[in-house]
Amino acid sequence: MSKAIINANRSIGTINPNIYGHFSEHLGRCVYDGLYVGESSPIPNVNGMRSDVVGALKQMKIPVLRWPGGCFADTYHWQDGIGPKISRKKIVNTHWGGVTEDNSFGTHEFMELCRQLGCEAYISGNVGSGTVQEFSDWVEYCNMGGLSPMSEQRRVNGREEPWNVKYWGIGNEAWGCGGNMTAEFYANLCRQYATYLRTYDREHPVYKIASGANVADYHWTKVVMEQAGRFIDAVSLHYYTLPRSGNWQDKGSALNFPRGEYYSTLFRTLRMDELVENHSRIIRQYEKDKKIGLVVDEWGTWYDVEPGTNPGFLYQQNTMRDALVAAVNLNIFNNHCDTVTMANIAQTVNVLQAVILTEGDKMVLTPTYHVFEMYKGHQNARQLESYVETSLTGEGEFQVPNLHISASQAEDGKVLITAANLDDAKPVELDCILTGLGKRGKVSGRLLTGAAGAHNTFDAPETVRPETMERIEPTAEGFRVQLPACSVAAFEVEI
Ligand code: AHR
Repeated sequence: MSKAIINANRSIGTINPNIYGHFSEHLGRCVYDGLYVGESSPIPNVNGMRSDVVGALKQMKIPVLRWPGGCFADTYHWQDGIGPKISRKKIVNTHWGGVTEDNSFGTHEFMELCRQLGCEAYISGNVGSGTVQEFSDWVEYCNMGGLSPMSEQRRVNGREEPWNVKYWGIGNEAWGCGGNMTAEFYANLCRQYATYLRTYDREHPVYKIASGANVADYHWTKVVMEQAGRFIDAVSLHYYTLPRSGNWQDKGSALNFPRGEYYSTLFRTLRMDELVENHSRIIRQYEKDKKIGLVVDEWGTWYDVEPGTNPGFLYQQNTMRDALVAAVNLNIFNNHCDTVTMANIAQTVNVLQAVILTEGDKMVLTPTYHVFEMYKGHQNARQLESYVETSLTGEGEFQVPNLHISASQAEDGKVLITAANLDDAKPVELDCILTGLGKRGKVSGRLLTGAAGAHNTFDAPETVRPETMERIEPTAEGFRVQLPACSVAAFEVEI
């Protein structure tokens, strides 16, 4: 038996809904095929956006979408993607498969997608190969309500009102594909770019996100904060979970993995806690009022591509192992919501740890999708302090705590507790104790479970899906429940 204690008397703040954000790049079949099929496609769509995918993402309550990259962002010239589609420039996507990019999905299409999803837009601008003028024009094009060269161009292209895009990324991975810059060089550039990213409407200030560190590059965060901290609202962080650390040539299979790799994946994903802690501490050294956020705008698993698929397209399957990775990371972000203002899993559809896979007109929801959907009640809720008794489980050097949780209370009083049992063989009896709350009402629970490699396919799309938990035993202090091996659960307590 393990005890979990949820203490409603203590909280570090409200969970920003954007922690449940997503990332979509012009990479493989994420944007084209996955999100956008074009108006003339036989696949049901509204203005070119796949209706099935849009419906599923809305159901999951997607709060924000990052676009157009990724590495692609620092090769992207936004003017190529506006105006009549027939005359849009055709370019080569040099980072991802060398395929032709016809620019049929550009700014107007992205904003239309966000409108259909009911989510915020987060645009990553080109610092690596663009200019300050080009970036500043993009902001003017999107956000200027009055008369200006860019707003006039937008109107010519059919959009009268500004979109008031709030979130702007100042480059992407400037230390790597975004220009191979040093921290010092980037920090200076960032100051310059940030100066010209104007707020055109005081009611809609822009939120400037500096390109952040790779994993544990604390020097990067320190230099950016020290030199550019006054000009930005957030710094980003990228951390991918690879089963075999640092080995990009042989990362491991998404589906056929030995037990040791199940645990090495979870072991490595738990490192997110330490990374968020340490980068946050550096941010606070330079800015104590918690006004500058940490935006983890790329995270998730990265495996070898599915055999037989284009290596440049990063298409991978998704199992219960990925569900646990998602559960652990979302719990970590919830429990650091005083600093983490946004996180974006890579990537929404058909790329890396996708929540949705598509094939022609078929769509599959992955185990990761179900975790996001089960956790959606945390969005905008007040994080609650939580503690859980754990024991170590694992194989060899890869020992992990068997349980991982987070909790929050929504405005209507309902408490949501999300818990993962990381052990692949042993169920756990969990005794959940709730303190600092009024009279408790009904407790309901949903459970996602299966073997570590369990997954959904186009032929069997419902192998892994949440089920209602029948046996939740009320106790004087809360409730008691059994969590099966390799499972993610969400409990809702009415207050
Ligand atoms: O998500 C795939 C790639 O990973 C992104 O383009 C880049 O930012 C990161 O290296």
